[in-house]
Amino acid sequence: MKRIAVFVSGNGSNFENITRFLHGNDNAQVTLLVSNRPDAYALQRASRLGVESVVWTKTDFADEQRTIQMLTDHNIHFIVLAGFLLMVPTYLIRHFPNCIINIHPSLLPKYGGKGMYGNHVHEAVKENGEKETGITIHYVSEVCDGGETILQVSTPLSPLDSVDDIAEKVHQLEKEYFPKTVLEILTPKK
Ligand code: GAR
Repeated sequence: MKRIAVFVSGNGSNFENITRFLHGNDNAQVTLLVSNRPDAYALQRASRLGVESVVWTKTDFADEQRTIQMLTDHNIHFIVLAGFLLMVPTYLIRHFPNCIINIHPSLLPKYGGKGMYGNHVHEAVKENGEKETGITIHYVSEVCDGGETILQVSTPLSPLDSVDDIAEKVHQLEKEYFPKTVLEILTPKK
């Protein structure tokens, strides 16, 4: 059974959806929430769901040995970034080769890179009058938003869609596709 740590910085709706989806699964389970912010709402979700959580700040991440030790102590095999706004340290990417994935709320490479997260992405999509947007699930590499794509799904936009409407469409795609993609990656192929 693969033990997953989900890394977040805020709300944690994807964390909750993945945790619920995998509940009782023999191949993969979310067993740890890591938040870099002590005030993240995701921490409340974790306690409601009975998932262990740790607050691990940027300063904590700067300590390579302690960070690896913390994840080893929790027996973590796989890391899912779900609204995690810090850069993942290179040592972690090397320690978990092909075992860290991220979700980005746009059709990368469009609207990716530094500063492009959450509503900033949807605002830029609206401003440019895009006819579609979507989600990208990808492996995490040393280039910000640059790792190999696992799945992209798009959704049409109307000129009448507000930024909130765009965000809602993207959240629906995340809810539908992220949990099952995580499971698919972690299910042994016959
Ligand atoms: C999600 O829409 C995710 O795609 C986005 O943050 C949101 C987190 O929502 N991630 C990024 O923008 C990463 N660059 P959640 O905390 O409710 O899961």
